[in-house]
Amino acid sequence: PRPILLTRHGESRDNVRGRIGGDSGLSDTGDIYTKKLANFVEKRLKNERTASIWTSTLQRTILTASSIAGFPKIQWRALDEINAGVCDGMTYEEIKKNMPEEYESRKKDKLRYRYPRGESYLDVIQRLEPVIIELERQRAPVVVISHQAVLRALYAYFADRPLKEIPHIEMPLHTIIEIQMGVTGVQEKRYKLMD
Ligand code: G3H
Repeated sequence: PRPILLTRHGESRDNVRGRIGGDSGLSDTGDIYTKKLANFVEKRLKNERTASIWTSTLQRTILTASSIAGFPKIQWRALDEINAGVCDGMTYEEIKKNMPEEYESRKKDKLRYRYPRGESYLDVIQRLEPVIIELERQRAPVVVISHQAVLRALYAYFADRPLKEIPHIEMPLHTIIEIQMGVTGVQEKRYKLMD
């Protein structure tokens, strides 16, 4: 069995401001996570010479990977956060106030709701297919550093969670979810690196 390690990027400056989307860097707290994550990964994968680190193409995941030494890093556009289209850069408050119909339709069906000129969870799930195929094919451990919506979908695939739950799965910051795929099924461990 070989592990797949899933984690969100460290807290971003937009996370602090409550803004969705964007391409901001990390907050000071997020910075600390990059060091803790590097430490964890370097210890956990010490003897795994062929392991690799996968990120999205967004700064906050690339920065989160930047302290990890000794493994190749690969950027996937398919690991980018759900595209919030016209709502990119807004807070949920602003969406509720300025686009109440959009806010309500998303609340009603978060799985199928597609942001105008953006994506739905179903779109994200679909674009993750090549990533999942590649993850299944890998024999070495992979660390996936991505985003909340994307990791909900990836996690649901490996943990065999129903489609309708995906947009509501808890995916906390600064936590590593380790998935082990063995002959007897999937095992899961969580490591919370910060409070
Ligand atoms: O910016 C996007 C968020 O990470 C996704 O969260 O789908 O719960 O709004 P949400």
